[in-house]
Amino acid sequence: MSNQCLDSAGASRREFLKISAAAAAGSALAGAMSRPVHAAGGDTIKVALVGCGARGAGAAVQAISTKGPAKLWAMADAFSDRLEICLRNIEREHARNSNRERYGGAADRIDVPKERQFIGLDAYRKAIDSGADVVLLVEPPGFRPNHFEYAVQAGKHVFMEKPVASDPVGVRRVLAAAEVAKKKNLKVGVGLQRRHQRCYHEAIQRIGDGAIGELIALRCYWNSAAPAKSPVPRGKLTELEYQVRNWYFFSWLSGDHICEQHVHNIDVCNWIKQAHPTEAEGLGGRQVRTGKEYGNIFDHHAVEFTYADGTKMFSQCRQIPGCWNYVAESAHGTRGTANLYASGAEFRVGGKRVWRTARDRAEGKRGAYQAEHDALFDAIRHDKPHHEAEYGALSTMTAILGRMATYSGKTVMWDAAFQSPNTITTDADKWDAESPILPDEDGRYAVAVPGTTHVI
Ligand SMILES: NC(=O)c1ccc[n+]([C@@H]2O[C@H](COP(=O)([O-])OP(=O)(O)OC[C@H]3O[C@@H](n4cnc5c(N)ncnc54)[C@H](O)[C@@H]3O)[C@@H](O)[C@H]2O)c1
Repeated sequence: MSNQCLDSAGASRREFLKISAAAAAGSALAGAMSRPVHAAGGDTIKVALVGCGARGAGAAVQAISTKGPAKLWAMADAFSDRLEICLRNIEREHARNSNRERYGGAADRIDVPKERQFIGLDAYRKAIDSGADVVLLVEPPGFRPNHFEYAVQAGKHVFMEKPVASDPVGVRRVLAAAEVAKKKNLKVGVGLQRRHQRCYHEAIQRIGDGAIGELIALRCYWNSAAPAKSPVPRGKLTELEYQVRNWYFFSWLSGDHICEQHVHNIDVCNWIKQAHPTEAEGLGGRQVRTGKEYGNIFDHHAVEFTYADGTKMFSQCRQIPGCWNYVAESAHGTRGTANLYASGAEFRVGGKRVWRTARDRAEGKRGAYQAEHDALFDAIRHDKPHHEAEYGALSTMTAILGRMATYSGKTVMWDAAFQSPNTITTDADKWDAESPILPDEDGRYAVAVPGTTHVI
């Protein structure tokens, strides 16, 4: 599945290689090469989890549920309560899974004593240096480029969640580190799980084979109610602690929801097109989620992306309750339309459905989360190529390009955006560091104002 997935992104990858070679040239990583760790077929693979939240618990269980011996070895989180809850959740979920035959019934796959539980903004380093073979980066995206660089430098295989960064500087850092990872023969997976769903592979293959004719346009959506995140009260938290606790609502940490969530759908469009857009215009704002507890992100974005050959990709993402909800991607061709969903795809010609994928459970989302880990661990055990960082970074950059267009209200060109020297995040690893943004005396954060806000 993994190879198929990489092949299907081949053109993007070739284009990307030119960009990332340039990014790698200035990389501070270039001189810092340590020996990679490789686990042969039957070796126990030790897993370190960085970012012990909802997805972190899932990713850890999936990692230790892959074929062959693997154990959760170390955990790191900014906050101790998060780590404790997460460990309990992993133990419970793993116990449930262990009863199933496919996971081999292993009950000894969690081995995280107190001395391998690390807390704080610098906890990632301790977990990575704890003797683990694979690192799962499931913390807020704003920290990910720094953590990914460190993991690669330490010679670790990596699974990292999407998006892989929150700004163009971070994207460039990830691309550069990915090049170093390749040279070290490290395997890198990215949590864009649609890339591991058979229904997406089938549908995108059919589009490529001409089932809907020549591609004219793409559409993609993540319109839903509120995300599964509620604001944490300020209490006695320092400013940086407050923002990290509420990472979802701060652009420097999450990238805004166009990046944090809608990147899934944008990635599918790039995959179909086998390229990334070259420019974007858009509109957006925060109309309903306006309270100061909601940081500085928008609650809706609508972007018109343009690819180099003029093909358009129309994107919408909205997090407002009570509206039309829709999560999907569509490709329009000269003969017909393909509609793709996490639960399966359908093709229409002349308004009539001419093809659909089987809606079997294995192709659903839970299956895809496990499949992405199965592919990564299989690549580690059997030394197969596994390099998902490149398309993960290009699709993250596409979402950031869209955000730059909606925040500024201007046409934003890929090249200018990608080269932007301004970072919005921080590598701070101590709690007394200053946050990249500060509230006014009323506790409100400056929100982008289209027409006025400069993004480059
Ligand atoms: N692929 C998917 O479908 C999917 C689904 C959900 C989330 N995600 C991604 O997973 C990531 C985490 O999301 P989540 O829903 O688990 O969030 P979460 O808030 O539940 O968990 C994030 C955890 O990271 C911790 N953290 C914050 N800063 C840290 C740091 N510097 N070092 C270590 N830990 C730190 C937080 O304390 C928290 O426990 C995000 O990138 C998100 O986009 C992906």
